[in-house]
Amino acid sequence: MDNKAYSIAIDGPVAAGKGTIAPKLARRLKGLYLYTGAMYRCVALFCFKKGVDLNNEGSVESILSKINIEFKEEKILLNNEDVTEQIKKEIVAMGSSKVALYKGVRQKLVFYQKEIAQKALSEGMSVVAEGRDTATKVLPNASLKIFLTAKPETRAKRRLAQIKKRGEKEDFKKVLDDVVKRDQQDSKRKIDPLVQNPENYGYFVLDNSDLSEKETIDAIVAKIKND
Ligand code: C5P
Repeated sequence: MDNKAYSIAIDGPVAAGKGTIAPKLARRLKGLYLYTGAMYRCVALFCFKKGVDLNNEGSVESILSKINIEFKEEKILLNNEDVTEQIKKEIVAMGSSKVALYKGVRQKLVFYQKEIAQKALSEGMSVVAEGRDTATKVLPNASLKIFLTAKPETRAKRRLAQIKKRGEKEDFKKVLDDVVKRDQQDSKRKIDPLVQNPENYGYFVLDNSDLSEKETIDAIVAKIKND
């Protein structure tokens, strides 16, 4: 890989492999990995901790000024507390998809994400951002926009393996239901949804249902080199 600074946006549905592929790609490019979903998860986690009703838009938005999110050495800090593991919980994932519906939440988080990305790019670093709207909102001028996807059953299987690895119990049917429900919520919302026809938004669509992790990264690297 050359030393050029790339801005790469990877969006896609739940458990499509973004969280595995994006950090590895960032490492390969010696760039910054920006996990935007972590921020929505932090907002939901803070609401749970403070007993804030996630269905109440005003209450959720009122806590935004009380939270500070930082990425430090691959850890995610919420008001200086390391919440890297806590935000992985399925209940937080479902909650994050709820708070992600709200305009005030999105405005604040997208502003912050853009700031982080622009700072890195201005210092000559590559940025690999992943989420739902990184190509449409966070890095609209990205050098490469990837829509990473896989069959719902494949994604549910991968998510179940991650849950089991953490020592938690869950059954396949419930995980699949949650995957489909969160995808619907993320795709049908009014503000900055996960787009349904990615080709029309300049994305390179990559279905990795039958690809290994390495094959997926190689396909992206080949695309970067050929573009
Ligand atoms: O990517 P991850 O599953 O951690 O994201 C958690 C939730 O945060 C998503 O289901 C989605 O509702 C929200 N999100 C978003 N926009 C992003 C990233 C995540 O709305 N750019």
